[in-house]
Amino acid sequence: MMSREEAARRAAELRAEIERHNYLYYVLDRPEITDAEYDRLMRELMAIEEAYPDLQTPDSPTLRVGGAPLAVFETVTHRVPLLSLANAYTPEELRAFDARVKRFLGTGDVSYVAELKIDGLTVALTYEAGRLVLGATRGDGEQGEDVTANVRTIRSIPLRLSRALSLIVRGEVYMKRPDFLRLNEARRAAGEPEFANPRNAAAGSLRQLDPKITASRPLDAFFYDVLTVEGADVATQWEALSFLRELGFKVNPAARLCRDIEEVIAFCDEWATRRHEVAYEIDGIVVKVNSLAQLTALGATAKAPRGKIAYKYPATEEVTRALELAVNVGRTGVLTPLAILEPVEVAGSTVSRATLHNEDYIQEKDIRIGDTVVVRKAGDVIPEVVRVLPERRTGTERIFTMPTRCPECGADVVRLEGEAAARCVGAACPAQLREGIIHFASRNAMNIEGRGPQIVSQLIEAGLVHDAADLYRLREQDLVKLERFGPKSAENLVRAIAATRGNELARLIFALGIRHVGENVARVLAERFRSMDALAAADEEELLAIPAIGPKIAASIVSYFREEQNRRLLEKLRAAGVKMEEGEAAPA
Ligand code: IVH
Repeated sequence: MMSREEAARRAAELRAEIERHNYLYYVLDRPEITDAEYDRLMRELMAIEEAYPDLQTPDSPTLRVGGAPLAVFETVTHRVPLLSLANAYTPEELRAFDARVKRFLGTGDVSYVAELKIDGLTVALTYEAGRLVLGATRGDGEQGEDVTANVRTIRSIPLRLSRALSLIVRGEVYMKRPDFLRLNEARRAAGEPEFANPRNAAAGSLRQLDPKITASRPLDAFFYDVLTVEGADVATQWEALSFLRELGFKVNPAARLCRDIEEVIAFCDEWATRRHEVAYEIDGIVVKVNSLAQLTALGATAKAPRGKIAYKYPATEEVTRALELAVNVGRTGVLTPLAILEPVEVAGSTVSRATLHNEDYIQEKDIRIGDTVVVRKAGDVIPEVVRVLPERRTGTERIFTMPTRCPECGADVVRLEGEAAARCVGAACPAQLREGIIHFASRNAMNIEGRGPQIVSQLIEAGLVHDAADLYRLREQDLVKLERFGPKSAENLVRAIAATRGNELARLIFALGIRHVGENVARVLAERFRSMDALAAADEEELLAIPAIGPKIAASIVSYFREEQNRRLLEKLRAAGVKMEEGEAAPA
């Protein structure tokens, strides 16, 4: 074993080395080592910190996996209030802003910085002598929440700056669109409520009392303002951006220094069309007087600085009519109400249905059949009805009530105390069955290639498939009788299904669709139990001993395996040759 001094020296070396690789990977997108090499460094540091716990510093990258859960977030009072921005919607309003600024300053010599307005949530980070000591949400601008432990888990946020400065910076935590879609897909698969848009996903992920959850979410952050700094000279916003970059922060590369407001307007126009090219949501352009001396001279109104303004892009909202309200039954039996719309073009695509989330949402917004409604497409995702326009009512609108019986199977619909979701309790509900099989076959589950939801529905309707195990019994001669199937496509499907018999256990566990068991949990379970039988035999106590498993998940797993119907399905899968153990060769 290393001496304490050796360990301390090596730990410091590793911290610097790991953080350098974090920076290369997460900020510059230019990794220099492989994931395996990175993991090796991380493991070495973790081993040292385990042997000498007091050597773990607050800027150790091992904290990026998330520390101990909190009971509540502490309130922090911002040293510099986090103001908001006034909005402009037209070039005319930007010209008026420019005129106001010049009149106020008594000079025509004003340049601007135009930056993308990232649609995430504001954080203020405090560094002392180059070390991150506090991360806070904006809150009401005066007081926010201390989310330091969570901020530390965001890999692109420097725990230590390249210079030992004390400063406060402001930035935006956000989630990239593809990461958001993947997160929602996993939540859907685990029967958990989805986030409405990337911003809500980012906010929900940052405001978790358990930093380990935050660590598991793909968050990122751009920084754009220096609120205070000691011992460095920054004279303009343009310099502030390079200063932030130099310190190790991720700074959005699209900012532009503009000589006058017409250049700002050109930048706004350019990004109005280019905004869909970037992987994150932007909802406008922030225009800032470049000279910090001028900015200070301009001061602020009650809420917003006079030298900055947000140019907001037209919302991706449109007005249309809700022709009908319908419900969709999901894999876990949850009934989701949706509006069938008069088709309308929103943000570049035609929308003809929009989610209404749940019964409370409909009541709260008083959405009725026949209403004129505002629909929004948030982040290229599921469109939603945002509100109704009651002034357009004609008196023929009808109140919508959730069905008390499942529209697919006629079983009772129940709504548990304290839950927003209404569920169909039918054990043999065809909608649940269909969605369950679609999930079983989906990419992140068993990954049966060439199976679309339509094919699964077709197989069920044809009476060829009653459960997931039946997929493995499909024969080419049965398939060729179906519409859209030829000898070739029948052969391909049978082969694609057969190829999944030897999948890793984690995929199979996830594919079963046990509530609250997402991909990550499935992987943990496969690693721990190594066979389906061992997992099925586990009791709650055994499951709770696993760090990633909480009471909700444990209870759900136990009740899944207690259900006779589910045990029968597993036996059928086993009989069909599906691998039930980890690390065993696939049966021929
Ligand atoms: S500057 C005094 N720059 O937009 C306000 N804000 O509507 C200084 N935002 O709360 C903010 N990107 O969360 C600034 N490049 C950017 C921004 C940005 C996104 C957010 C910020 C602010 C909101 C104002």
